[in-house]
Amino acid sequence: MKTAVVTGSSGLIGSEMVATLDHLGWKVHGVDNNMRLEFFGPDGDTTANLERLAAATERFEHHGLDVRDREGVARLFREVVPDLVVHCAAQPSHDLAAQRPFDDFDVNAVGTLNLLEAARAACPDSPFVFLSTNKVYGDAPNELELVELETRYDYADPDRRDGIDESCRIDTTLHSLFGASKAAADLLVQEYGRYFEMPTVCFRGGCLTGSNHASAELHGFLAYVARCVLEGRTYRIYGYKGKQVRDNIHASDVCAAALAYAEAPRPGAVYNIGGGRENSVSVLEAIARLEELTGRTLSVEYVDEARRGDHICYISDLRRLRSDYPDWDVRVSLEQILRVLIGVA
Ligand SMILES: NC(=O)c1ccc[n+]([C@@H]2O[C@H](COP(=O)([O-])OP(=O)(O)OC[C@H]3O[C@@H](n4cnc5c(N)ncnc54)[C@H](O)[C@@H]3O)[C@@H](O)[C@H]2O)c1
Repeated sequence: MKTAVVTGSSGLIGSEMVATLDHLGWKVHGVDNNMRLEFFGPDGDTTANLERLAAATERFEHHGLDVRDREGVARLFREVVPDLVVHCAAQPSHDLAAQRPFDDFDVNAVGTLNLLEAARAACPDSPFVFLSTNKVYGDAPNELELVELETRYDYADPDRRDGIDESCRIDTTLHSLFGASKAAADLLVQEYGRYFEMPTVCFRGGCLTGSNHASAELHGFLAYVARCVLEGRTYRIYGYKGKQVRDNIHASDVCAAALAYAEAPRPGAVYNIGGGRENSVSVLEAIARLEELTGRTLSVEYVDEARRGDHICYISDLRRLRSDYPDWDVRVSLEQILRVLIGVA
């Protein structure tokens, strides 16, 4: 039986990965200390995900381990010797990183190094999949010329239709401390691929989403808008007139990409992953469609100041991923995602 270690296993992507691998007959060891609760308060509590997984899976084993616990991580890898590592544990918010810089760096950068070293010692030939982020590009994507349309911004250059590709620079740009700690982790993951020739990959995510997101104001864009519509909460739009654009991908499509890589790994690979143009939406458009689908009106508060380092228009260019893994594609449409989030799928 094949064995995997999935970190952040109670989170959005980690829990989807656990369920997918378990369904395929793998033994999965999940690593998650529910730090999301500590980061975001009750909205971020992932206990329900853990309970759902425990009930729905056959071979899943949970470890309340902290990825910052270097010796604990090394011990787990020695015992388990995983055939696959999927690293999803993270401190995922810009704003929180500024408030808690040491925790942010220790979890995102040092935690990733702990996992890479544990993998190098115990299972150097096993694919190591890292969930990176488009924030490694900092605000460099904002330098592209944009046009303002009625409900969204878009790239002015028609050659940019496919969005941001992996050649976008990652330095001399404003990242937020979160973007910097993830960029450090991203470079380490690449280096273990290049220097040690381990099968490592960075998936630089756009907006990853799905119904198992413990969405909070500081993290989980679409799921949080949906939560506000459903629960009658006020949603705050930060700057750019609500015309900022995100591309959204369902967790199941992210997991499919991780599996495609695991079957045919390329050391030190880097891919942008998101919903692409088809699944792109502005904040205004997302609100309008969710209001339509639910028949409710969202209470919106507009804050003039944009979040620092926020992307104005970000669409992931998926051409490299599609070219290297032609069987992979975005399968869940934006409309399906929105319906899943409000429970009318
Ligand atoms: N969700 C998105 O829109 C998005 C976008 C781009 C990149 N990403 C990246 O994808 C990955 C997964 O994101 P997600 O949305 O599933 O996040 P998530 O917050 O839902 O899940 C992360 C999990 O990691 C756990 N965790 C945090 N610190 C930990 C620690 N020290 N030890 C063990 N577990 C810990 C949390 O409790 C949480 O359950 C992250 O690396 C994130 O940076 C996410």
